[in-house]
Amino acid sequence: MSEDQLLYLSQADVAAVGLTMKEIVEALEVAFREKGEGRVEMPPKPGIPPGGGDNFIHAMPAYIPAMKSAGIKWVAGFPENHKRGLPYITGLLILNDAETGLPLSVMDCVWITAKRTGAATAVAAKYLARPDSSVVGVLGCGVQGRSNVEALNVLFALKRVMAYDVDRGAAQRYADEVGDRFGLEVVIVKEPREAVSGCDIVVTAGPIMKEPHRTIQAGWLDEGAFASLVDFDSYWHPEAMREADKFCTDDVPQLRHYQEVGYFQGIPPVYAGLGELATGQKPGRERSEERTMTANLGLAMDDMTVAPLLYRRAVKKGIGTWLPL
Ligand SMILES: NC(=O)c1ccc[n+]([C@@H]2O[C@H](COP(=O)([O-])OP(=O)(O)OC[C@H]3O[C@@H](n4cnc5c(N)ncnc54)[C@H](O)[C@@H]3O)[C@@H](O)[C@H]2O)c1
Repeated sequence: MSEDQLLYLSQADVAAVGLTMKEIVEALEVAFREKGEGRVEMPPKPGIPPGGGDNFIHAMPAYIPAMKSAGIKWVAGFPENHKRGLPYITGLLILNDAETGLPLSVMDCVWITAKRTGAATAVAAKYLARPDSSVVGVLGCGVQGRSNVEALNVLFALKRVMAYDVDRGAAQRYADEVGDRFGLEVVIVKEPREAVSGCDIVVTAGPIMKEPHRTIQAGWLDEGAFASLVDFDSYWHPEAMREADKFCTDDVPQLRHYQEVGYFQGIPPVYAGLGELATGQKPGRERSEERTMTANLGLAMDDMTVAPLLYRRAVKKGIGTWLPL
């Protein structure tokens, strides 16, 4: 390790570091408190749409002084990639030295994106879900369907997952893997409603669509339930979202930006950002019957919370490849 080198961490290296979901959830909660206190710099993400449609590549910079973390994620989402046998989300992250600006590390960002998004759901759930929540409905049994349950399992005594996917094979693979890994009962359901009604926590993690398919109708989400809209408002009918007593997001200004470019057209008024909940500026759940929701957009801050933890542990464990600057 010297000042004229950077550490390259491949996808396998990042996973080999062994950072736990518990560590990520705890670190992210600290980050949201920093954000709530106005101590995080995070300009809105610029993006380009190669090939058009719902394809994107976003630049996501953030600086978190308390964590001495500065850097940028360059992340692509190409919904048609599954037809090529390629992953939907791919990309790289550059971590800089916050004192000198020098690049410390370039790392694959797929693992980080998966884990921090699940962790952000868990942080939101800590403030918005009932503490005795034990049944989770998952719509979209992919990467996020897995990491959201992994993260929720850190904070809640989960018992059962009601799993829905348009692709039965994906639901079956999910049931086999998640059931074994977390010791949970996974019930594959045929109808989306079965993964909503009767659940304490609902995670929608299908494709993000500018034209939402609005499958989830008013009356489906139980009183007292919490929902995390990982795929934005794609799954939710506006009337169903309006049933929320508290509708939150991870970043209000970025939500407004997304509204300007055509997303989130049918959402109810926003009650709070997660930073306001984490600092106690606004109360989270106040009554057991409340319906609560968060539409987390996924923040550069989340990535820059996890990246320095990975980098430091990789250096300590001798993982990765040193490259000349
Ligand atoms: N908000 C955030 O911070 C954030 C971060 C990362 C990814 N995402 C979004 O999360 C979603 C899931 O990402 P992923 O990486 O898990 O993708 P993935 O491709 O791994 O999984 C998606 C799953 O959804 C299934 N699916 C497709 N249409 C469906 C439908 N209508 N109903 C139910 N299931 C359906 C697919 O069969 C697949 O199993 C994407 O929309 C992605 O853009 C959000």
